[in-house]
Amino acid sequence: LKAKFEHFEQINQQAELGGGRERIEKQHSAGKKTARERILELLDPGTFNEIDKLVTHRATDFGMEKNKIPGDGVVTGYGKINGRLVYIYAQDFTVFGGSMSRTNADKIVKIQNLAVKMGKPLIGLNDSGGARIQEGVQSLAGYADIFYNNVLSSGVIPQISVILGPCAGGAVYSPALTDFIFMVNEKSYMFVTGPDVIRTVTHEDVTQEELGGAVTHSSKSGVTHFTGDDEEQTLMMVRELMSFIPLNNMEEAQEVPCTDPIDREDEELNSIVPADPNRPYDMKDIIYKIVDDEHFMEVQPHYATNIIVGFARFGGRSVGIVANQPASYAGVLDINSSAKAARFVRFCDAFNIPLVTLVDVPGFLPGTQQEFGGIIKHGAKLLYAFAEATVPKITLITRKAYGGAYDVMSSKHIGADINYAYPTAEIAVMGPEGAINILRRDIKTEEEKAQAVEQYRDTFANPYRAASLGYIDEIIYPKDTRKKIISALDMTHNKRKSNLPRKHGNIPL
Ligand code: COA
Repeated sequence: LKAKFEHFEQINQQAELGGGRERIEKQHSAGKKTARERILELLDPGTFNEIDKLVTHRATDFGMEKNKIPGDGVVTGYGKINGRLVYIYAQDFTVFGGSMSRTNADKIVKIQNLAVKMGKPLIGLNDSGGARIQEGVQSLAGYADIFYNNVLSSGVIPQISVILGPCAGGAVYSPALTDFIFMVNEKSYMFVTGPDVIRTVTHEDVTQEELGGAVTHSSKSGVTHFTGDDEEQTLMMVRELMSFIPLNNMEEAQEVPCTDPIDREDEELNSIVPADPNRPYDMKDIIYKIVDDEHFMEVQPHYATNIIVGFARFGGRSVGIVANQPASYAGVLDINSSAKAARFVRFCDAFNIPLVTLVDVPGFLPGTQQEFGGIIKHGAKLLYAFAEATVPKITLITRKAYGGAYDVMSSKHIGADINYAYPTAEIAVMGPEGAINILRRDIKTEEEKAQAVEQYRDTFANPYRAASLGYIDEIIYPKDTRKKIISALDMTHNKRKSNLPRKHGNIPL
């Protein structure tokens, strides 16, 4: 019996050593952890259960039959984050560069199937040289099986991808299909075709980091949602995100005890929106003051900064916040901000997270670049996403709500449940200056124009016309924002609404 246990111990140790001490050293000296170290870092202590630890590949080309490592380059299993079950896989770069083999894909598919069957989130830690070159099409088939599962699980369980090393070629498409992508500064990169291919085809010279590093994807392409300074911080951010979202689409996010008074007033809120409608202010100053404990987890903070999206809690319950940012391009809606917010709204709606929308929007960004780029169809994404969302929708107009953008930003007309406005709100077809330029071409002097602008502002650029029509439910003092939003969220907590059955809608893409 002792010999059997010793044999078992030996096999276990071999599996846990992955590609061997030398390659582990190499991984560490590159400032990276091994797959197992990462899993232990991410999960609650002592909760990880590994599955398929002894699986090996079945390839025979290139002498592979003599080169087998138990586990075959991916560690899979389940464990807990804040006491709640998650399924996880982590590519092990020390084993064949974490490359995707047929059996490696089968292991991931097994975990995906378990996650969706049990209704629990799936987290993938990516660090891989891509398709296992020795296996050819079998490896590509493996990727496709994973993609297929990613798509069928979308909107059923949260899927999270963490990129901790290379992720290139077809490998990028599994993360791209998941809900959130995390990257590590200067340690991870993602691209469809690498710098060498680009040099040959388009003669552009670009480094790996410039092409697909965390800075590029968090600010230029918008591919990634969160960036950490190092692996530890990045994995802690995954834990933080998990605390805001439910385990599947049939559940609500976990309610956490709230010590921040739900009726807390804040006099400082009364002076954040400037009296001068053309002066910028930081919408995040409002957000931090109204949410529980000033805790706001911003999604894509460096991309399309004219709109803010992210998670927070009101009275212990998770919400998704969508807010125009007057401090960036006056909070205008453009192609990137519309797409960014639309995707976030759809995530929240799929996973029963109420939406709180803060509006200060002067309209859509004018220009040929935007029109040629398809602002019509991209702007429509946000309109579509808000309109189809059946979760509780609470909207607050802090200042400008002009033109079509007023309709888009979770207006009463597209199904918001409660619409608030500050007394500083201006709800109109366009700003006073623009309106007078068109309506009053007869005006000759600056004085006359100023008078007409003032008259327009008094008549149209305020919340009272909208309130008299019932489009605004209540005009509130800024200091009361927190308690008003909490009471609206309370009131809408049991909201039951579903759209007509259909195969699926046809969101403009
Ligand atoms: N298939 C099989 N083995 C792979 C692999 C792949 N796609 N990618 C990496 N490996 C192996 C390497 O052969 C090496 O094995 P060894 O330790 O036995 O020598 C090990 O993984 C580490 O790779 P290495 O190239 O030494 O690491 P690096 O950090 O210098 O470079 C990459 C990493 C990803 C840039 C590089 O390995 C690479 O270009 N890989 C191929 C990428 C690709 O084109 N994939 C197919 C398209 S999807």
